[in-house]
Amino acid sequence: MAVFTAALGSLQFGYSLGVINAPQTVIEKHYARSLGAGQHPSVVIYWSLSVAIFSIGGMLSSFLVGVKGMLMINVLSVAAGLMMGLCNMWKPHIMVIAGRALMGFYCGLTSGLVPMYIGEIAPKAYRGALGALHQLAIVVGILLSQVVGLDFVLGNENMWPLLLGLSGAPAVLQTFLLPLCPESPRYLYILLGKEQEARRSLLRLKGAYDPTPDLEEMKREKDEADKEPRISILSLICSSVYRQQLFVALMMHLSQQFSGINAIFYYSTAIFGRAGVSQPVYATIGVGVINTVFTLVSVALVDKTGRRTLTLVGLAGMCCCAIAMTVGLKFLNDYSWMSYVSMAAIFLFVSFFEIGPGPIPWFIVAELFSQGPRPAAIALAGCCNWTSNFIIGMTFPYIQAWLDCYVFILFAGLLLVFTVFIYFRVPETKGKSFEEIAAVFQKGRKVPKDNTELQQLKSSSEA
Ligand code: GLC
Repeated sequence: MAVFTAALGSLQFGYSLGVINAPQTVIEKHYARSLGAGQHPSVVIYWSLSVAIFSIGGMLSSFLVGVKGMLMINVLSVAAGLMMGLCNMWKPHIMVIAGRALMGFYCGLTSGLVPMYIGEIAPKAYRGALGALHQLAIVVGILLSQVVGLDFVLGNENMWPLLLGLSGAPAVLQTFLLPLCPESPRYLYILLGKEQEARRSLLRLKGAYDPTPDLEEMKREKDEADKEPRISILSLICSSVYRQQLFVALMMHLSQQFSGINAIFYYSTAIFGRAGVSQPVYATIGVGVINTVFTLVSVALVDKTGRRTLTLVGLAGMCCCAIAMTVGLKFLNDYSWMSYVSMAAIFLFVSFFEIGPGPIPWFIVAELFSQGPRPAAIALAGCCNWTSNFIIGMTFPYIQAWLDCYVFILFAGLLLVFTVFIYFRVPETKGKSFEEIAAVFQKGRKVPKDNTELQQLKSSSEA
């Protein structure tokens, strides 16, 4: 129940990602009417802002992960939902833009807090599967928004404010459920030093069992954490102690975004249209379904097959699909059956994404870092994800105009680079305790005997 409750935040994130796609024309018309005739150019600007401001909100707030908890930030989401739902009470374009900005801000926080909480409460053997539920909730949210966004459901002239406003609904449910969920035992013990409360929380999470081994593991982590107090974002960037982990974490997030997945998600209807599909909206919903199904496959496999293998298979598979898509688009005019090649390549591209490169980056950062630097690392990785998502969203139409049918070759090249990087630099974290994972990274590093750098980090954090 704790994981389900937390993942309501991710559901909302996915819904907000997807919801703005379908009702574009209807909302643009509405903006034009409320702005008065003759102001059409500003409609385009207000529309683009309504889409993009979401990522800017996320980019800003991802830095604040760890400052506030999941319960408190629900205020932001409900307020954002109300602004959008009631946008007709004042200037709709301003209300929607403000609501999207606030919702982005909320989602930036939630995309860090949810995997962090799940990673901390999950038993070692299920940490991957439970961690991947964050992504599962995101993709269910995207799919839901695609379905309710159809014009005969809510994506029409009268109902679109409700369609946007509903993005705040899961926060209401989460607000009622969160007080029933246990606080993270790691947070209680390692950061706050409350051993008894941590024990109670473990018993609530796992039922009647002997929590001593778990507490002992946490005690060892606490001893380490006392040497390395909560580390600020700046000291994490400057420190050589965590450089390798940080590099791996950022590369995982870069590979997720620069794989080109959101080029498909944001522009799929247009891409399908180009590839010769007659009902592109339904093909887009098909992508949403495949997306969900393969995330489920990942949930089932990730603790058996491992993070490294699934990411490698996923990225390499996406690379091949990007090449196939290019071939399909290039020869579309020569052979009509090439439209099927492009369609199949798009569906497979999304499937490969969801078995590894989609879900894994979100939770692996929590696995790569111990309690001290974890919030700062999640904040940096989140900001890297949101920024690259924003860059792809903004630049893809221009890159497409420039490279035409070769646009996916660019992604194929990037995917190859990421595959090679992960092959050489990313260790497997499946089934390992946080202590064992930290040890893998320490092995390759020369540690100064007196731990001078850790001492410096400690005094700069205290200051
Ligand atoms: C991941 C990405 C997100 C993308 C989604 C697609 O969660 O972070 O940008 O839209 O997967 O399923």
